[in-house]
Amino acid sequence: MSLSVGIHDLSFATGEFVLPHTALAEYNGTEIGKYHLGIGQESMSVPAADEDIVTMAAAAAAPIVARHGTDKIRTVVFATESSIDQAKAAGIYVHSLIGLPSATRVVELKQACYGATAALQFAIGLVRRDPAQQVLVIASDVSKYDLDSPGEATQGAAAVAMLVSADPALVRIEDPSGLFTADVMDFWRPNYRDTALVDGHESIGAYLQAVEGSWKDYTEQGGRSLEEFAAFCYHQPFTKMAYKAHRHLLNYCGHDTDQHDIDRAIGHTTAYNRVIGNSYTASVYLGLAALLDRSEDLTGRPVAFLSYGSGSVAEFFAGTVVAGYKDHLRTEANREAIDRRKPVDYAGYRELHEHKLPADGGDHANPEQTTGPFRLAGISGHKRIYTKR
Ligand code: CAA
Repeated sequence: MSLSVGIHDLSFATGEFVLPHTALAEYNGTEIGKYHLGIGQESMSVPAADEDIVTMAAAAAAPIVARHGTDKIRTVVFATESSIDQAKAAGIYVHSLIGLPSATRVVELKQACYGATAALQFAIGLVRRDPAQQVLVIASDVSKYDLDSPGEATQGAAAVAMLVSADPALVRIEDPSGLFTADVMDFWRPNYRDTALVDGHESIGAYLQAVEGSWKDYTEQGGRSLEEFAAFCYHQPFTKMAYKAHRHLLNYCGHDTDQHDIDRAIGHTTAYNRVIGNSYTASVYLGLAALLDRSEDLTGRPVAFLSYGSGSVAEFFAGTVVAGYKDHLRTEANREAIDRRKPVDYAGYRELHEHKLPADGGDHANPEQTTGPFRLAGISGHKRIYTKR
């Protein structure tokens, strides 16, 4: 029997502020049903001026290090599509902030929202090669579209940190994976922009094609049948997308698309994404966190994952929930990460949206806004300055 490898611990963090969709709807005159029902979003996390992908990632990873120590972590793989530097891996700042040893390999990965799944699979390969080591996988993103654009309502921010190890306490990741790549321009962010460009309706079609393609490959590789899965964790740019994807998959497989069954398969996975918004790489694993926190006992049950990254790459794979997993969940801390956010009004959100470090890299101190454990204090001589409380 092959070595059991998978997710041993999972922790997440999000931004300091929250903008309810009612405030956005009031500002732009949208009927609130479009947000609450049409895209399935209630609120979005908004990072403080002194937060970014590094501060959220460190806040997500610190509890993992506190629980498991640093001795076995030899690799950090940081997945993001809102990268802060073209050369230096954001994970190196995190490595320093959470006190990992110098004998660590740190690297950053990118393929839109899919990156964290590549990181997870690479981590599994490393642990299979040396089962004594653990890999810290971090997915951290700030989802940002232009103000007053259709994508604005789907913004959000969060980081998920996962410890990947042999004999995992939460979810054992299985072979095979179903893979799909297609060269499409549905969503992208050229180096000279800090907001994404997107063809919204084309991106939904591209996502659905990728669901089909990755599922087809999964079955051809000898994967499980659809009926075996207790739940489906989809990438959720907005939670309604998970419903669209699952209905599409059921149709493709010639199954009935009974709303009650779809709710049962997806429902619990959307609880965190619905109030946090799109967190790109982190989104599918926030879906897993919500599922584990909110479901009845899933011991021994297979869970499906569909990870999609625009551009596009998708992977369909399965994990089995491990006996005793409930003792290792962070349900209270997860609730606290969401509940501690401070509501921001529309004007405050707009100001934060437009906040930028000076483009010339000159000295700048950020206002002290975050109450989280790590801050982006400012920039000096083109160097970002992070501090720990
Ligand atoms: N009550 C209830 N529902 C309503 C409503 C009302 N009053 N008014 C509208 N709706 C429904 C619409 O019928 C529609 O539902 P269906 O999709 O089921 O038909 C839904 O609300 C959205 O309405 P529109 O399509 O008219 O909305 P839009 O054109 O303003 O934009 C969007 C929607 C394309 C998703 C846009 O938010 C967007 O561009 N988002 C960013 C891109 C994105 O998230 N793409 C997803 C796939 S790509 C991906 O997954 C990678 C990633 O992370 C970005």
